[in-house]
Amino acid sequence: MTKFYVVVCLLGVMSLTQTFKVTPQPPTWPSAFSVDFHEVYRFINISAIPSNDGAWYYDYNIRRARFDHLQGQSNYFCQGRGLTLKDNHSDCHLIFATEMYVHYPREKQCCRCSMRFGPGVRIGPDTILEHRACGPAEGCTVLKPAWLTGAKYIGKQTISGMVCHGWEKQGAVAADRWYQREDGTPCQYWEMLSIPAHLLHTMTFNVSTYKVGPVQRSVFDVPHYCNITCPNPYP
Ligand SMILES: *[C@@H]1O[C@H](CO)[C@@H](O)[C@H](O)[C@H]1NC(C)=O
Ligand SMILES: *[C@@H]1O[C@H](CO)[C@@H](O)[C@H](O)[C@H]1NC(C)=O
Ligand SMILES: *[C@@H]1O[C@H](CO)[C@@H](O)[C@H](O)[C@H]1NC(C)=O
Ligand SMILES: *[C@@H]1O[C@H](CO)[C@@H](O)[C@H](O)[C@H]1NC(C)=O
Repeated sequence: MTKFYVVVCLLGVMSLTQTFKVTPQPPTWPSAFSVDFHEVYRFINISAIPSNDGAWYYDYNIRRARFDHLQGQSNYFCQGRGLTLKDNHSDCHLIFATEMYVHYPREKQCCRCSMRFGPGVRIGPDTILEHRACGPAEGCTVLKPAWLTGAKYIGKQTISGMVCHGWEKQGAVAADRWYQREDGTPCQYWEMLSIPAHLLHTMTFNVSTYKVGPVQRSVFDVPHYCNITCPNPYP
């Protein structure tokens, strides 16, 4: 009899904890922030793909963003636009003003990308982003701070020695993950493109560079020589 009650009580407590278990809600980005990152691309089963540093500047209040992919970058928006470059892997800034610009500041080369986005858009020769909202790495548009709405909580993971919470959004050909600390500091952006291969792309943030608040407006200035349309826009 006593044993029976103990079991019933235990079950009751367990079901209560189940009922009240809180699933962390997807976070919303601050409306303005900047942060540095280290970026790595990796095909599953192939290790040696060069990595590079970069930075994000984001200010949704003025609908501006700049994503910097620095020396060594193989960014598929930067590459292949038809600019005359000495080194197509050198620093590249993607500036999102009213339009998107590809800017190689060291080479003083820049162009305006005429792009059309929608379901089934092809980005670069290899990647088809089908029925997928563009993730931060693509930066097709200035992402809304609430872009993670509807993302699934995937639990905790240790990244750069920190405990980070993750959320995942699954698209037709790619999955996006966002990891941040309990206090909201970003840990890592992760994306897996299943087409053409299992290409894993991570941007791991340097938390000591994370700044919340308006970004200096000049960061988003479009150089005067950005007055041509990219010879090779996206198909
Ligand atoms: C990676 O290699 C493992 C072991 O050789 C193999 O089982 C797996 O299918 C490979 N994965 C891919 C995506 O090629
Ligand atoms: C980048 O530059 C290298 C060397 O000049 C060239 O072989 C390659 O085709 C270029 N890549 C693109 C995407 O323009
Ligand atoms: C992070 O940023 C700080 C400040 O700019 C820098 O001193 C440090 O080397 C960076 N850490 C990494 C791992 O890049
Ligand atoms: C772009 O600007 C440069 C100098 O800023 C000028 O020499 C050039 O003619 C301009 N090109 C076009 C297409 O407006």
